[in-house]
Amino acid sequence: MEVQQVLHMNGGTGETSYAMNSGSQSRIISMAKPIIKKAILDLYCTTFPKTIRIADLGCSSGPNTLLVVSEIMNIIDEGSHQLGCSPPEFHIFLNDLPENDFNTVFRSLPAFHDKRRKDKGENHGPCFIAGVPGSFYGRLFPSRSLHFVHSSSSLHWLSQVPPGLNGDVNKGKIYISKTSPAAVQEAYLAQFQRNFSLFLKSRSEELVPNGRIVFTVLGRTTANPSSGDSCILWDLLAQSFTDLVSEGFIEEEKLNSFNAPFYAPSSEEIVSEILKDGCFSIDCLEVIALDWNGGFSNVDDYFQKPSSSNSHFHMANAIRAVAESMLQNHFGEQVMDPLFQRFGELLRSTNRGGVQHISFVVSLIRKQP
Ligand SMILES: C[S@@+](CC[C@H](N)C(=O)[O-])C[C@H]1O[C@@H](n2cnc3c(N)ncnc32)[C@H](O)[C@@H]1O
Repeated sequence: MEVQQVLHMNGGTGETSYAMNSGSQSRIISMAKPIIKKAILDLYCTTFPKTIRIADLGCSSGPNTLLVVSEIMNIIDEGSHQLGCSPPEFHIFLNDLPENDFNTVFRSLPAFHDKRRKDKGENHGPCFIAGVPGSFYGRLFPSRSLHFVHSSSSLHWLSQVPPGLNGDVNKGKIYISKTSPAAVQEAYLAQFQRNFSLFLKSRSEELVPNGRIVFTVLGRTTANPSSGDSCILWDLLAQSFTDLVSEGFIEEEKLNSFNAPFYAPSSEEIVSEILKDGCFSIDCLEVIALDWNGGFSNVDDYFQKPSSSNSHFHMANAIRAVAESMLQNHFGEQVMDPLFQRFGELLRSTNRGGVQHISFVVSLIRKQP
């Protein structure tokens, strides 16, 4: 599978779109906000650029796409006002893979600019927004052109399924699982290391000295990748596929030849790559733990059937919104409804006590070369 050509969050604003199912990612952004605020103010107050260039990597489409960008501009507008300086011009780059629904993003820009003008009057820096399609596991911007890079809930997607997982190596599973052989864990870790080191190297070339990166990534607090909470959802999805195999919906070989291009790293694995790269100092690394209900106040709202007539559960829709493009590419469109119906039922009957979604928020400073 060519992840670059296949992976995209579900576009538009329908029931299974990312726009309608990105509440838990929005919570992660809110929880990371104090760290984003500190990083952007530190940067602004030490460099005072006339034009500040900011990239959001893995922006997707939906309400989260412009959330961080507008927060960052507000922080700088207020900061410059307090310091008695005129606010800088903002040059904002929204990046994602080419299959992302950039059309929906671009259509939302006039309303975004109008709102900013209404909220701020004349007291804000002009803002120029551009889309940048391409993989963040490679260069996207000219050397030393960016001041601030943000990325939320994106770096757990790998550029490819780790090589060497063909055939029956990970039989009946689609990610690392308790029954997976050690070779599966090793292949996933090696792919994460290749990808994350490329991400760091590319950004180290694109950022100005003292430039900043803040990113959040799904992860795990256990050393053993097969015991992390991150495996549970993939195990339940694999179980849903196994049920469809036994009912003759799909062939067993199809299931055995699929593995997800995803990895939930530990903090040690993240830090180890940052130290190996050597171009960044770590300002902070914190854990964000969300309950399995994604931080929604009413757990039942998240797990029960929505009040409309459709038969999918909210959480199944949240996973469908992010994973459907890859699954559909391999298994076919006709499998998606029965799969997520089954998945929703399994989620509902699973004991969720104590299970959490773990993310890390990491703030990095580009060292002076
Ligand atoms: C779960 S969404 C997160 C969207 C948004 N940042 C948020 O927090 O809601 C992950 C996004 O990362 C994008 N993505 C995954 N791999 C990527 C890559 N190599 N380069 C650029 N974007 C990538 C996906 O297409 C997807 O839109």
